[in-house]
Amino acid sequence: MHLGANVRISKIGLCVTVGFFILLYLYSTRGPSYSSIDNRYVISLKALLAGSIRAAKMGGSEVVLVHNQNRLNIESKGKTKEGVNDPVTAADYRSHCAMYHSLIEAFPKITVISEEMSKGCDQIEVPSLKDTIKELDQYGIGSDIAANANDVTVWIDPLDATKEFTENLLQYVTTMVCVAIKGEPVIGVIFKPFEPKTTYWAWVDHGVSPNLRNLPQPKEGRNPVLIVSRSHAGRVHNASKLALGDNVQVISAAGSGYKSLEVAVGNATAYVHMTAIKKWDVCAGAAIISALGGSVTPLSGPPPMGFGPTDSTLLNSGLLATMQDHKWYLDKFYNV
Ligand SMILES: *[C@@H]1O[C@H](CO)[C@@H](O)[C@H](O)[C@H]1NC(C)=O
Ligand SMILES: *[C@@H]1O[C@H](CO)[C@@H](O)[C@H](O)[C@H]1NC(C)=O
Repeated sequence: MHLGANVRISKIGLCVTVGFFILLYLYSTRGPSYSSIDNRYVISLKALLAGSIRAAKMGGSEVVLVHNQNRLNIESKGKTKEGVNDPVTAADYRSHCAMYHSLIEAFPKITVISEEMSKGCDQIEVPSLKDTIKELDQYGIGSDIAANANDVTVWIDPLDATKEFTENLLQYVTTMVCVAIKGEPVIGVIFKPFEPKTTYWAWVDHGVSPNLRNLPQPKEGRNPVLIVSRSHAGRVHNASKLALGDNVQVISAAGSGYKSLEVAVGNATAYVHMTAIKKWDVCAGAAIISALGGSVTPLSGPPPMGFGPTDSTLLNSGLLATMQDHKWYLDKFYNV
């Protein structure tokens, strides 16, 4: 009885197994094959770093182009017509088109989230990705990593510091690209398109651009030097005096990209933002600062911020970026 049942079960098992192999055979010869994965879903992060640098530079060139054209217009006509020739709209839009399309054409299966929306974009010439990858090879970024396109979210900011762009405070203007893997920023690119044109990039655990290497070691017990937004400097200044005492120095500046870099290179000890901020303003700086060993969190402290495709694009509770003593700053600001 026992034996009979076992034999019957294994007969059924055999039939199922044989049937499975027949189906597998049919599927692999006729249908889309199991073994040929669509390689557009396999993302080389080295290529994506190159694509991000290329995108940031292309966007930056568009911003400069619009700036120069606009200056010519102002010189020839005395003033620009409102709306018709709004330089921010034009620069934002052209930069978005260049950045978004150069990324999506090279990596069609990734998610790209931009501050701008794309309508009809002009065709523009896209430099070869191979050349950009080759340029990276001189920086010794180590072995490549393959990621699944579904895990990749790229955040782009086609024009950071728009207000300063219109005020000709061009040192604050940047374009930014950030690659998050499973919601975590791992590649950050910040490009300053106006003279002196400068590209800063970092890939966590792989490498950083030469201008972020061999930075001076932060000094122990250094007095806090906060960098804060020009637009709400007064409020942060007051809060910072309350939180940190009179020894605090406050620098007001613009552009989240600009301020993150000042912290990354040690020109400021903390970037403090007390109001809501968009994630495309934050992501690239967060990747660069973490690659260099620092921290970026909401000003209210952890939990960490999610940079995935379905995460909110807004950070409600402010921002703190530091290279050291992060928890000390968080505690100081906690009760203000
Ligand atoms: C900062 O503090 C000064 C002096 O207490 C006050 O006059 C000013 O309104 C405050 N500014 C802001 C933006 O809170
Ligand atoms: C940091 O300060 C130095 C010296 O003032 C300056 O040359 C540099 O542009 C500043 N910022 C960055 C991101 O290097």
